[in-house]
Amino acid sequence: MITETVAAIRAAVAERPEVGIILGTGLGGLGARIEKPHALPYETLPHFPHSTVESHKGQLVFGHLHGKSVVVMEGRFHCYEGYSAQQVVYPVRVIKALGAGTLIISNAAGGMNAEYRAGDLMAVADHINLMGVNPLVGANDERIGPRFPDMSAPYDERLIALAETIAREKNFKLHRGVYAGVLGPNLETRAEYRFLRGIGADAVGMSTVPEVIAAVHAGLRVFAVSCITDLCIPETLKPASLEEILKVAAAAEPKLTALIETVVERMN
Ligand code: HPA
Repeated sequence: MITETVAAIRAAVAERPEVGIILGTGLGGLGARIEKPHALPYETLPHFPHSTVESHKGQLVFGHLHGKSVVVMEGRFHCYEGYSAQQVVYPVRVIKALGAGTLIISNAAGGMNAEYRAGDLMAVADHINLMGVNPLVGANDERIGPRFPDMSAPYDERLIALAETIAREKNFKLHRGVYAGVLGPNLETRAEYRFLRGIGADAVGMSTVPEVIAAVHAGLRVFAVSCITDLCIPETLKPASLEEILKVAAAAEPKLTALIETVVERMN
């Protein structure tokens, strides 16, 4: 299946991406920064998961960013939409098969670390998989990766350090924290936030973990950054609204786009 998807993409675009970028909820601004964009809607690609949600715009955008060849996923798949974990990570495997060496991911997340403020960015240093699913369940294909992939360092330390340098230069805060991946789609109860904080998570969200597991399995270098869209302190928890989450994500989006762009520009 991957070979057929890759063949269809190669027949349509000459681009050989070095970097894959997955953009999170409300964080799509980077798509507009791609030079000489060539978009392939998901529904034109064989074996690509197709959207079951009407009005869901999904496409791969190939092009250049600061001289590097990139492919951006505009619209990602979540397990809470009903996609299997294998479907959610299918694009990651295609990105790897296209020849990319690095995967960059952004997401919107709730912040549980008391030092965090809404609108802050957090470089993901590690994760906890609480989604109840894993994209590697089932027969393992050794051509993609090993049966028991190591997870001692899923997030590339050098890319985190580079991002920290860039944040310092650009004068914004970049936390370094642990992301807990949950299935959703409901937000958490106070007891769940207390539990998540207790087990060492700084932020919580409904994406990223499956993609990172598949990326590490396939040998991709990973950098992920969370936009803290709401604060999840059990004692002072207020009802979170999707509207507010999207508003905070939109306000933080230029900072996030600048960070990812500069990481792409300077990484080697
Ligand atoms: N929980 C889970 N996912 C989220 C949250 C949250 O509080 N905020 C944004 N995405």
